[in-house]
Amino acid sequence: MDVCVVGTGYVGLVTGTCLSYLGRNVICVDIDERKINMLLEGKSPIYEPGLDQLIQMGITRGNLRFSTNLADSVRASEIIFIAVGTPPQASGKADLSYVKAVAQAIGRSLDGERRRVVVNKSTVPIGSGNWVEMLVREGLNENPVYTEKLAKSSATQTSNTSNTSTSTQGGAGGSISRKLNGARPDQFFLVASNPEFLREGAAISDTFYPDRIVIGATDSYATERLRALYTPIIEQNFSVPPSAPRPAGLSAVPVVTTDLASAEMIKYAANAFLATKISFANEIANICERVGADIKEVVRGFGLDSRIGPKFLNAGVGWGGSCFGKDVSALIDIAREYGYEPALLKSAVDVNKKQRLIPVQKLQEVLKIIKGKTIGLLGLAFKPETDDLRDAPALEIARQLIEMGARVKAYDPIANEACKAQNPDLKLEYSDDIIALSEDCDALVIVTEWEEFQHLDLEKIGQEMNSRILIDGRNILSKAIVEAAGFTYRGIGR
Ligand SMILES: NC(=O)c1ccc[n+]([C@@H]2O[C@H](COP(=O)([O-])OP(=O)(O)OC[C@H]3O[C@@H](n4cnc5c(N)ncnc54)[C@H](O)[C@@H]3O)[C@@H](O)[C@H]2O)c1
Repeated sequence: MDVCVVGTGYVGLVTGTCLSYLGRNVICVDIDERKINMLLEGKSPIYEPGLDQLIQMGITRGNLRFSTNLADSVRASEIIFIAVGTPPQASGKADLSYVKAVAQAIGRSLDGERRRVVVNKSTVPIGSGNWVEMLVREGLNENPVYTEKLAKSSATQTSNTSNTSTSTQGGAGGSISRKLNGARPDQFFLVASNPEFLREGAAISDTFYPDRIVIGATDSYATERLRALYTPIIEQNFSVPPSAPRPAGLSAVPVVTTDLASAEMIKYAANAFLATKISFANEIANICERVGADIKEVVRGFGLDSRIGPKFLNAGVGWGGSCFGKDVSALIDIAREYGYEPALLKSAVDVNKKQRLIPVQKLQEVLKIIKGKTIGLLGLAFKPETDDLRDAPALEIARQLIEMGARVKAYDPIANEACKAQNPDLKLEYSDDIIALSEDCDALVIVTEWEEFQHLDLEKIGQEMNSRILIDGRNILSKAIVEAAGFTYRGIGR
């Protein structure tokens, strides 16, 4: 199967690369020439464990290609994924300008040689499936192949009313390789929604072994083609890639087929639930701290309830990243557009906003004066195993401390360079390792729960610091061990 993936970000690049591993012919397209040039050299422009290896495998096999030419790539493909960004605007609404540009460009590029399925993988507000269809049609109306076909087909119909060009009408039976005689847009393309649930840092594994595949469509032909595309994943009958072992006992992946709006809502509901779950744990943590309970113990106790489950209950500096904040804000905005005030979702956002600055309050409690103090941040990325800094709590903490007159140093195992490049105005001092970071620090704050921060050499670190103070913004260390090394320890909700 020939597949085009538009957008080579965290979602598009991983999706395209994994599909090529499964034997599909994939072209990944981006407008960013720098990214495409890196990919043509076999290098991933993003950090994602195991991705480089799979990219190189695809390039060597010859079924993973990269291009900036959307039109040619669309024409070479049967299934076209839209996987561009939908970043938040100041109002909370998702910015759909990238999706719009791509959908229209796809319409302008279709050649009618086969029926294409345009699949929206970007997270978009409810109703966007129909909107994308409208945009592809707009592009199609400017497409000479389509307009000529349209003119020819109406001329034929006028001269011979018995010839109604029904050779490839909808339904799963239509041949994809047959030339189209008519000029109906749905003979050129169909739209489907296929929301993505991968987690950065575990994206390869999540793509090969997802909890479910969601397909929203109005036409069964689109659903069937996507089902065919994903068959190796659905049936789990592919040979396991070296970097992503198959989870024990996984023999099939459930497919949820539904309408476009429900597919789009499933994505928002999933992210809103997870964000709310974390905010709930943080709210309980804040109460724990006041009443003398330990959130780690409390979560262990109530997370064992099978109706609740232990995941996404880690108290700390809250959620960040490219999805939770933007998707919850977009869902709030959608609800309001329909006259509904989503109180629970708003609270989840409010709790998270306050949570981020709790380390700053704790520093004030312990140090009293922040001005003139040196604070070291352990971690910048919004979570471990990624270089993604979008909506990262570390950036907000750093800005707040700098504004209060502190000197702020930072060390991230992967994201230092990305942070430097993306935040040229942020007066952060970057360190190459934990020991260099600790030098002259009055306090350290763990912001990202990278594995290496879970095994700190506290004695060595302490020797470099002005005073032994550690704020554990992710509750990854043992209070007793840190205190035994002579540190003042503050966790979250403990
Ligand atoms: N990052 C995640 O963990 C994640 C998970 C699930 C869903 N999503 C959703 O998937 C979508 C993509 O997210 P992402 O994190 O991969 O975004 P990203 O910002 O990392 O990548 C988007 C890419 O699209 C490219 N692009 C923009 N306009 C283009 C155009 N006209 N033609 C070709 N390429 C174009 C950009 O250059 C960029 O490389 C978003 O809607 C996001 O909400 C993201």
